[in-house]
Amino acid sequence: MTDQTDLQTDFIGDDIVPQGAGTVEKKRVLIVDDDEDFAASLAGLLELEGYQAIIAHDALSAQDALALHQPAIALVDVRLGVGNGVELVRTFRRQSPDLICLMVTAYASVETAVEALQAGAYDYLCKPFHSADLLATLERCFERTRLMEEKRLVAERLGQMQRIQTMGQLAGGIAHDFNNILAVLLGNLRWLQEHVRTKPEQVQMLEDALAAVKAGTDLTKRLLNFGRQEGGDSVRVDLHAVLPDLMRVLRRTLGDDISLSLELADDLHEIEVHPAQMETSLLNLALNARDAMPDGGTLRFEACNFVVRPDDARVASGLLPGQYVVISVIDTGHGMPVAIRRRALEPLFSTKPAGKGNGLGLTMVDGFVRQSGGRLGISSKPDEGTRINLYLPRASVPTLSGEHVADTANGLDELRVTRVVP
Ligand SMILES: Nc1ncnc2c1ncn2[C@@H]1O[C@H](COP(=O)(O)OP(=O)(O)O)[C@@H](O)[C@H]1O
Ligand SMILES: [Mg+2]
Repeated sequence: MTDQTDLQTDFIGDDIVPQGAGTVEKKRVLIVDDDEDFAASLAGLLELEGYQAIIAHDALSAQDALALHQPAIALVDVRLGVGNGVELVRTFRRQSPDLICLMVTAYASVETAVEALQAGAYDYLCKPFHSADLLATLERCFERTRLMEEKRLVAERLGQMQRIQTMGQLAGGIAHDFNNILAVLLGNLRWLQEHVRTKPEQVQMLEDALAAVKAGTDLTKRLLNFGRQEGGDSVRVDLHAVLPDLMRVLRRTLGDDISLSLELADDLHEIEVHPAQMETSLLNLALNARDAMPDGGTLRFEACNFVVRPDDARVASGLLPGQYVVISVIDTGHGMPVAIRRRALEPLFSTKPAGKGNGLGLTMVDGFVRQSGGRLGISSKPDEGTRINLYLPRASVPTLSGEHVADTANGLDELRVTRVVP
C-alpha cells in the first residue's frame, strides 16, 4: 500500500528541480585587472572558495576570455592600463546581456560608481574590499543568474506547452473534418451492406471496408481527445467504481508477462476529473510501464487519501495545501536516471526509437493533472522501477444545505476525519 515515505520521495513535476543540465555548471568568474598581483591573489581566493577564476589584464584579452569561457560574472577594474573598465562593461553587456558585471574601483567616488551602473554594471566594490564582502556579493550575483536561468527554463517550457496546445488544436480540427468524411463513408457502406445482396467475397470486402472506417473513427477520436485537453466536463468520480474496469482493459493490453494489481483504500474520497482524460492518462502510464519492462514485471495501481499541509515541500511546486487522492502507478521496470527523469514531462521528449514513442504521453498526463488542480510526482531510479503519483484534489464536499464546498485549498479543518497515510 502507498505509504507516506513513498509519497515523500517523489518530486512534483519538474518545478522543484529545474530541467536541463546547464544549471550545475561550475561558477566561473572573469577577473579583468591590469594589476597582475592583485588579479592573481583574487583568483587564488576565488579558487579556494570553489569558483573557477579566469584572468585577463586588458580589454581585448577580456573579450577573448568572455567568448571562450562564458563566465557568469565579470569583476572589472575601472582603470585598465589599456582601455577603460566602464567602456568594457558597456561592450560586455552588449555582447552578452546575461553576464553580470561587477565594477571594482580604487576610487570611492560616486561619479565613477554611477557611471559604472549606467554602463550596465550590476554593482560595484571599492578597493580595498573585505573578502567576505566580495564573496557575499558574488553569491548574490550567482543567485541572480540561477533565478534568471530558472525564468528562462519556465519560459521555454511555456513555449513548448503552447506549441503542443497549437498542435492539439490543429490535430483536433483535422480530426473533426476527417470524422465527417468517415461518417459519410460509414453511412454509405452500411447502406450497401443492408441493401445490396452480392457474392460472399464482396460481402467480406464490405466488412473489411467497414472495419477500416471503424479503425479510422477510433483514430480520430483519439486525435479529438488530444485536441480537447482544455475544458471538457469534469464529473465526480469514485475510483472504486471505475478502476476495476480499467484494470480489465489493461490486462488484455499488457499481456501475460506483466502482473497487474490494484489496491484502493477503503475510505477513498471522490475526485472531480474528466473521466476519459483520466482513463487515457492511466493508459499512457501503463504503456510507459510496459515499455520499461520488456522482460515482464509487475505493475501496481494504488490510490489513497492524502493531506498536503502548508509546510509540505510539494507546496513549493504549486500543490495547494488541502485534501487529495493520490493515484500511484508503480512498475518494476528499468527506471530513469536523473537526467531523463527531469526531462520526462517535456513535450516531445522521448528515449524510445522513432515509431515507438512520441514524447507526448507524460506531457498529456501532466496537463490532465494540472487541469484537474493537482500535480504529478515522479520517483524513479535506474533498475529500481518507477512510481508516478497523481495528486488529484478531493471533490468538493456537500454541506448540510446541499451546496458543494471546494475544499482543496483550505480543507485542512477536515484533517481530523481524513486518514493521513501512515
Ligand atoms: N515508467 C517508466 N519507466 C522508465 N522510463 C519512463 C517511464 N515513463 C516514462 N519514461 C521515460 O520518459 C520518457 C517520456 O515518456 P512519454 O512522455 O510517455 O513519451 P514516450 O513514451 O512516447 O517516450 C520516455 O521515453 C522514457 O524515457
Ligand atoms: Mg509514453
